[in-house]
Amino acid sequence: MHASHTQAHSGLAHYLAVKKTIDDRALNARIWRAFAGLVGELDRPHIFEPGCGIGTMLERLIENKVIASAEYVGMDLNADNIDLARKRIAEWGARRGYSVRTAGPTVLIEGSGVAVEGKFLHGDVLMERAAGFVTDVLLAHAFLDLVDIPAALNRLMPRLRPGGIFYFTLVFDGLTILEPEVDPELDAEIMRLYHDSMDERTVAGQPSGDSRAGRHMFRHLQEIGAELLESGSSDWVVFPRQRAYADGEFEFLEHILLSIESALSDSAQLDPQALTRWISQRRLQLEHGELTYIAHQMDFLGKASTPRSAQSG
Ligand SMILES: C[S@@+](CC[C@H](N)C(=O)[O-])C[C@H]1O[C@@H](n2cnc3c(N)ncnc32)[C@H](O)[C@@H]1O
Repeated sequence: MHASHTQAHSGLAHYLAVKKTIDDRALNARIWRAFAGLVGELDRPHIFEPGCGIGTMLERLIENKVIASAEYVGMDLNADNIDLARKRIAEWGARRGYSVRTAGPTVLIEGSGVAVEGKFLHGDVLMERAAGFVTDVLLAHAFLDLVDIPAALNRLMPRLRPGGIFYFTLVFDGLTILEPEVDPELDAEIMRLYHDSMDERTVAGQPSGDSRAGRHMFRHLQEIGAELLESGSSDWVVFPRQRAYADGEFEFLEHILLSIESALSDSAQLDPQALTRWISQRRLQLEHGELTYIAHQMDFLGKASTPRSAQSG
């Protein structure tokens, strides 16, 4: 593997690892409880998670006793994420005293009432054939705002059995706040261009990303006839206490500043020196324990529509 590739991945993997506890705090607790209640009614559910990253959602589901007996499949476009997800979940299980067995992409986690078969697969969820398998639960965590949502829903929702549960979390929705101000006009301009860069993103020539994905989800879900049960905010709110950040938050904010910088480094609309100065000032605020970051995100819980014939029995 190329050294710079490894470095780039270790940066991404590190970001996803430190993001876990920040996401734990951000997830909308009311909707999480409703989701856990619905999943709790299912007997050994099959769960599918596109864009699973390094597998932190599976850990979260077991840690919080949302699942005890389940079959989980996570899929990610990034092969290094998938390798790490397999290793991470095995180490995570062993640390907690579960019996862990691995065979290829499959990791079996058993003991103390838990019997979970996890499978981490490398693949593009937008290219996979929808007819592959049918699932009871479809998850998408910090994922849908990165893709063309109607195309993704068309590809993913047919995998969900009628009446199956979807739980789409941390869908970004158009607001990034950094406090305190550096320069009100420049702050606003940088945020505008940063959000524009999300809207202008393309993957393989296709539009891919929406800076207002959260508010647009209502329409997208309605268009496919999905039954939306709950929605609410799951904002990231990261702030220093007595000028110190909680575990992982400093590193998380470093990643956020880096992603703003890389999104705008080629912008024709921004003076590169102004961006460099602005980023340096933000890094100083971070080092001094002054920087607060808020990103508005939303969670969605619902069910796949049941065909009329099945409803009437
Ligand atoms: C922001 S990360 C979130 C990862 C994970 N859900 C988490 O929150 O830790 C988005 C993930 O989606 C993956 N991804 C993007 N497009 C994808 C696609 N078409 N198919 C599968 N995975 C994809 C990326 O590789 C990345 O791991």
